[in-house]
Amino acid sequence: MQIAIDGPAGSGKSTIAKLVAHKLGYIYCDTGAMYRTVTVMALRLGIDLGDEAAIMDQLKQLDIRFVPSADGQKVLMNGTDVTLAIRQPETTNNVSQVSALPKVREDLVQRQRDIAAQNDIVMDGRDIGTTVLPNAEVKVFMIASVEARAIRRHKENVEKGIMTPIAKLEEEIAERDRKDSTRAVSPLRKAEDAVEIDSTKMTIDEEVAEIIALVPKHSA
Ligand code: DC
Repeated sequence: MQIAIDGPAGSGKSTIAKLVAHKLGYIYCDTGAMYRTVTVMALRLGIDLGDEAAIMDQLKQLDIRFVPSADGQKVLMNGTDVTLAIRQPETTNNVSQVSALPKVREDLVQRQRDIAAQNDIVMDGRDIGTTVLPNAEVKVFMIASVEARAIRRHKENVEKGIMTPIAKLEEEIAERDRKDSTRAVSPLRKAEDAVEIDSTKMTIDEEVAEIIALVPKHSA
């Protein structure tokens, strides 16, 4: 079973995807975390983010791994824990550039398909229903207002000790939406057969229930 959840930054995808995966006993794959990990790699190595060849040289040898832990899933980059580093503003503000590189996308999409081939999975991202898993049995496209998304991201950030003001987050989210939706390769786009869920006024429980009801054997 493959459940694809796409949507813009801060639409609540990852929270919902994690809960749906937990309830169904499926693996959860956060594809945004993979693009973020490549960004951390490039920044740490001082590679120019436009230098696709140099990034690809390193990416070929990069092991990206999700490991369950008591306080959620950890992300390991060649064995180093980058769970916090991938959420830092420096990473967030540079990831659009890295995720626009066609060869980086090709490499990560292949890794994502390999993971999905071996497991019942909930995968979230921007191009899962359209490109990565076009045959997913369940496709969801989550949206929410920029304001609601900024408030949510602010709350998450405060828990991590990151203090960016809400107005600044709104600007960053709108800018990232623009970049993610207008890039040449795999732009953010709703798959024709995806179910749209607007989370602006829904509770987390309602969203999770709505998605689980779309899974064939759980909808009776
Ligand atoms: O969902 P997120 O904020 O962690 O995603 C980080 C960035 O990666 C975001 O700018 C869009 C990009 N991304 C992508 O291009 N394709 C995906 N499948 C997932 C994320």
